[in-house]
Amino acid sequence: MTSRQELDDILRQIEAANIAYHQHDAPLISDADYDSLRRQAEDLLAAHPQWRADAAPLAQIGATAAAGFAQASHRIPMLSLDNAFEPADFDDFCASIRRFLGLADQAILSFVAEPKIDGLSISLTYENRQFIRAATRGDGMVGEDVTRNMLTLADLPRVLPDDAPEMIEIRGEVYMTKADFLALNDNAARVFANPRNAAAGSLRQLDANITAKRKLSLFAYALGDSSRPVAANHWDYLNLLKSWKFPVNPLSRLIEGSDQAASFQADIALRRAGLDYDIDGVVYKINDLSWQARLGFKGRSPRWAIAWKFPAERAVTRLLDIEIQVGRTGALTPRARLAPVNVGGVLVQHATLHNEDEIARKDIRIGDMVELQRAGDVIPQIIRSLADQRAAELPVFSFPDHCPVCGSQAPRDPGEVVRRCTGGLICDAQLVERLIHFCSRGAFDIEGMGEKSVREFYDAHLVRSPADIFRLRDHEEAIAGREGWGALSARKLIAAIEARRSIGLARFIFALGIRRVGEANGKLLARHYGSYAQWRMSMQQAREIGSDARLELGSISGIGPAIAEDVTNFFAEPHNLHTLDELESVLTIEPDSGARVNSPLSGKTIVFTGGMETLSRPEAKARAEALGAKVTESVSKKTDYVVVGSDAGSKAVKAAELGLTILSEAEFRTLAGL
Ligand code: IVH
Repeated sequence: MTSRQELDDILRQIEAANIAYHQHDAPLISDADYDSLRRQAEDLLAAHPQWRADAAPLAQIGATAAAGFAQASHRIPMLSLDNAFEPADFDDFCASIRRFLGLADQAILSFVAEPKIDGLSISLTYENRQFIRAATRGDGMVGEDVTRNMLTLADLPRVLPDDAPEMIEIRGEVYMTKADFLALNDNAARVFANPRNAAAGSLRQLDANITAKRKLSLFAYALGDSSRPVAANHWDYLNLLKSWKFPVNPLSRLIEGSDQAASFQADIALRRAGLDYDIDGVVYKINDLSWQARLGFKGRSPRWAIAWKFPAERAVTRLLDIEIQVGRTGALTPRARLAPVNVGGVLVQHATLHNEDEIARKDIRIGDMVELQRAGDVIPQIIRSLADQRAAELPVFSFPDHCPVCGSQAPRDPGEVVRRCTGGLICDAQLVERLIHFCSRGAFDIEGMGEKSVREFYDAHLVRSPADIFRLRDHEEAIAGREGWGALSARKLIAAIEARRSIGLARFIFALGIRRVGEANGKLLARHYGSYAQWRMSMQQAREIGSDARLELGSISGIGPAIAEDVTNFFAEPHNLHTLDELESVLTIEPDSGARVNSPLSGKTIVFTGGMETLSRPEAKARAEALGAKVTESVSKKTDYVVVGSDAGSKAVKAAELGLTILSEAEFRTLAGL
């Protein structure tokens, strides 16, 4: 591989990890691996600075705001932190601060040390001492407005006392306690991988009523913008926050120099397991705020703070086998089967091996003793094999070049790290994975059609294509008679399927399993094209490179040429068009942006006119759209509801003339479940 290919490959991995972490709340790789990828990329860029412009994923901090929430831009960007893993890293950090500030080599630095909470960062704005807005980090510049959701947290002060400035933005972390996480996972059909994902998934709910049912907590720890200075140092600022009734982490301490930092690090590491919330390290922040201001930022992180991470938990065990799994897009991924071993309190029997190159690079062979690590709740991974403990000469592992399921060739495209099965629709593995995806949470979300049932019906030839799912009602009796089923569970399953016979366009697009079209891109496409008919027509036209439709597709912000190609490739396959024809005949695809299908506003056309008291026009519009409505400017026969506020003019008159349903603001709120 050339250095350029190597860089592109690393950037692709970073981008995928960014999307998985920030957009899907589902980490793909461990923090340590993520950091190592970033370091490799930085090393390559140091040698080839001319490639910097192409390294967008490195600059990206979070992910673009999810469709559905109003956007909230940050007056001061919400950035990330650099990491330290060992004392030497911390010493380097101190040395660079001294150099920057022109301090003597031995100068002792004062830090506030705070546990690094594993949740999601939040910005809280107060104006005239009233809480007015909460925003997530998003991409660092623009986040999502989650004000309503944040109001469901008991910990959040709604008003500030008189000593607070006119305007202040307070930053902190929203998290879920381990106890609340376990209780939620016991009750909920939806199982979150860890408290961080549960917190993110719960806060970023379009329906704040769902957020209200989840217990979320808050720690405040940083200052954003403010209309006047509030403290001279960070420690005083934390105390001020406490006096304003913000929850501030009780383990935070004022410390001096590296030795105290190292002993604080060890102390917190010992307490970690006993805490009721997940932490993944300690953040050290220069105490003096005027120094913080002078130090400022470098790239995506401040020079005045560092996150010293805890080491990942490790163990050694025997690699029993390397299994090759075939995914929905045909990707062959290797998975290690291990002699069961306890890693930091969790029994591990499988670990990821990433890809063919990783296995070769680490020279991992079946039968080896291997060292694995588990960081947070990411899938455990193999770090290395202990080659010196190899009993006899074990054969080098050779990655299959044929699909282990259907036997088709599985070549590697140039520049790709993955082999893909070319079997397409003759490959049972791909077919069944696509069906599993089709029924899954972000897609059709059919209760009772989890992985196990889908495999069962597939093997029984009851479901071989997506449309077959909607023909299962003709086989209710046959299902009831199957082992493990019964009349009641069969009836429930059919009811769950029928409940999804109408679906929002965004979910529908996502469900198709087009390569690189995840939930976020599904929403972008749905939002852009509006209706299914429009989308399908435009995509068929977009197959022609250089056509207006193709240019339009590629110019949608967030889509770009690579994704455009994946989408048009999908439409170039006759069997995919056949699948769409079949689905059209059994489904109603609603022009929404991924909202719940059973909302009373879904599919309705609404006009707002006049002023409203409790909602701004953009917010009212966003709420209605989030519930599947289409908001238009002018009143016509096609309008379903006209929401009339104060001083409404001609639109209200016209609505009355046409005999349309007129709603007051309060009636609209009720209908929208606000
Ligand atoms: S200070 C300029 N303090 O860690 C950065 N961050 O990796 C200001 N975090 O986005 C952040 N606990 O979500 C700070 N005590 C703490 C923290 C903390 C957790 C998170 C935060 C930030 C991320 C950076």
